[in-house]
Amino acid sequence: MKTNYVLVLIVMLLGAVHGNAQNKALNPRLDILKIIDKSLKNATEQYKVLIKNVEPDKFPETFTKGYVKQKAPNGWVTGFYPGTLLYLYEATKDTVMYNAALQKLPLLEKQKYISSHDIGFMINCSFGNAYTIDPKAEYKETIITSAQTLASRLNPTVGCIRSWDSQKDFLVIIDNMMNLELLTLASKLSGDSSYKKIAITHADTTLKNHFRPDYSSYHLVVYDPLSGAVTRKKTVQGAGDETAWARGQAWALYGYTMMYREIGDRRYLEHAKGIAKFILDNPNLPKDKVPYWDFSAPDIPNALRDASAGALYASALIELAGFVDTKSAKEYIHVAETIIKTLSGPEYTAAIGDNGGFLLKHGVGSLPDKSFVDEPLAYADYYYVEAMLRYKNLGKGKR
Ligand code: GLY
Repeated sequence: MKTNYVLVLIVMLLGAVHGNAQNKALNPRLDILKIIDKSLKNATEQYKVLIKNVEPDKFPETFTKGYVKQKAPNGWVTGFYPGTLLYLYEATKDTVMYNAALQKLPLLEKQKYISSHDIGFMINCSFGNAYTIDPKAEYKETIITSAQTLASRLNPTVGCIRSWDSQKDFLVIIDNMMNLELLTLASKLSGDSSYKKIAITHADTTLKNHFRPDYSSYHLVVYDPLSGAVTRKKTVQGAGDETAWARGQAWALYGYTMMYREIGDRRYLEHAKGIAKFILDNPNLPKDKVPYWDFSAPDIPNALRDASAGALYASALIELAGFVDTKSAKEYIHVAETIIKTLSGPEYTAAIGDNGGFLLKHGVGSLPDKSFVDEPLAYADYYYVEAMLRYKNLGKGKR
């Protein structure tokens, strides 16, 4: 009995030492905090400009040719604008942000039956953030119903949730990893573990089929819906079938880090670390750490950068740093700091009043489709603000 107590004590002490070592590595730097505080304050002013440009029944997507391009509530980007407003409200307590976000929620609530894998982005970034601030029963209902809608796209033979619709093939894109957070949240809120199990199934199948041995990810994997066999691996938004599309790597890094946080399966952690290594050791990652739109873009070093992928790397790396040894944590945090600094500088951050009211310039939506090329993107702003909030929480033991 006594030996058991001593063992428990030793384990607790070791845990405390490990925890302290991590906390030290994860303490935020004062100069970066100063940059972040200024950026968040300016972002709140800049979003007041954006709010004025947004129509009551629409959601901003980008600023192009002098006007703010806006989507109907069923577009994939619609959760990001209210989500960013809610993050800015958390940061600055400016109620203009909160009220503008609340104005959009009823429009999004109607999307809870939309059959689209993007429902995770749409509902988790909006209602998920709203629920964190104010855990209302109606928000919870929207989240759970949306998770049911998403779960209905699972093909158990393939072991994945369907991304894009197609008559013949079963198409899964790496982006879909991001939507799993809606499922894990729904399980927590409802006590029904079936949503979480579907998230695990999708993550496991994707882990098996979507990655190359160097941990870089394909964009699209095509499955036979009847046998579940993989029939093709290719790209749609990247430079080539065998290249690493920068945002695709971001969806993968963020997705497996999030799945480790939610599920605690070390395979997800090891996978996220592998993806981080691919990104951070890549000779084509620029010194300022905001990636070219594809790691094998043909015109590197003159290729366009993608601010959205940079913002996602920063946010995901800050979270991943909380789960790894001190040396890796320091490396991840250092890269995240570099990205935040780069994105907060004049090359990427628009002057207040410019850019239609969006925060960041230089995002790449889909270069092969020539859409949203070198433009602001609602999701670039969202993950940039998220990264800054996560950085502010370093060392506080908070998410
Ligand atoms: N999920 C769509 C994109 O990353 O462009």
